[in-house]
Amino acid sequence: MLYQSKIAGLGYYVPENVVTNEDLSKLMDTNDEWITERTGIKERRHIKEGDGNSTAIMGVKAAKIALERANIDKDDIDLIVFATLSPDYYFPGCGVQVQEMLDIKTCPALDVRNQCSGFIYGLSVADQFIKTGMYKNVLLIGSENHSGGLDMTTRGRGVSVIFGDGAGAAVLTRSNHNGQGILSTHLHSEGKHALELALKGPSTMHWVPELIEENPQEDIPYFPYMNGQYVFKNAVKRFSEVIIEGLQENGLEVADIDMLIPHQANLRISQFIQQKFKLKDEQVFNNIQKYGNTTAASIPIALTEAWEQGKIKDGDKIVLAAFGSGFTWASAVINW
Ligand code: ACO
Repeated sequence: MLYQSKIAGLGYYVPENVVTNEDLSKLMDTNDEWITERTGIKERRHIKEGDGNSTAIMGVKAAKIALERANIDKDDIDLIVFATLSPDYYFPGCGVQVQEMLDIKTCPALDVRNQCSGFIYGLSVADQFIKTGMYKNVLLIGSENHSGGLDMTTRGRGVSVIFGDGAGAAVLTRSNHNGQGILSTHLHSEGKHALELALKGPSTMHWVPELIEENPQEDIPYFPYMNGQYVFKNAVKRFSEVIIEGLQENGLEVADIDMLIPHQANLRISQFIQQKFKLKDEQVFNNIQKYGNTTAASIPIALTEAWEQGKIKDGDKIVLAAFGSGFTWASAVINW
């Protein structure tokens, strides 16, 4: 017998430190007009030295809210899934840090490395474990500390202005009501584009001391690289495909979508999808204007905000969709 999973609680946390486009223009050759026109972003949050945050710590803050709202005791969590591209340590992963910080006795902890698609990949993993009956309650976190690894000089402006820090969490549990919960998830990757959006070092192939020796001043590949226009073109194509795939799997049409929560990559991408599918403003949720692109955290932050604002109600058909580095892309269809 297959069970069904549902989201029982949501939470998010963003650092207090607001960094506006104006603030960035003091660090690099950029301006509010360029950033707003190209991305829709007005401000983002950055961890500040001394504020006590890290990827795992922000994840724990979001998780505590999600657990409380789910009314599920931490010791009833059967599995932790942590999605991030910016872990505190090269190893071990953030999942085990969360287990320790939440003081959960022992449980499996799994880190997911699928960048902007990380939360939906994690949701799918959680869903499969609940479906088979192996686990009943799964804590899923997406969290990113981008600001710790961005090139905040003019050299890095094409990437650095886009990304922000934050965390979102969901507690998934076995659904008691027939039909309420995750209806389907759809995951894809195409590794031939891996280096079009990547952080190549430090890594086992690019060791920092060696890099600094080889490249004393410039081109040190330990800042993210993004082929922006190439990513944009692929993103709009794959977002569209994977949304349609999710709808078709469930016999739904675009008009049946109560709320589309796209990964907050770039407001222009969301607007392109909205126009293509002729969705009304109230059918699409965006908050990239306030937080920038928070990668694996963007969907759970947006989902939580939409829920907090009363924009998601029982029985609504919610579509999550993401595209990012890998390339990876994914969608999930939820009967809320
Ligand atoms: N401020 C001012 N000027 C800038 C900035 C900046 N922050 N960044 C780049 N420029 C300049 C460039 O140097 C270039 O100048 P030039 O014409 O003199 O050479 C000019 O602006 C145009 O640069 P482009 O890179 O061609 O600008 P584009 O219109 O492509 O916009 C952007 C860049 C916003 C990054 C866009 O390509 C984009 O959104 N791509 C998709 C990114 C995305 O969605 N990523 C999501 C996935 S993220 C993930 O998965 C981890």
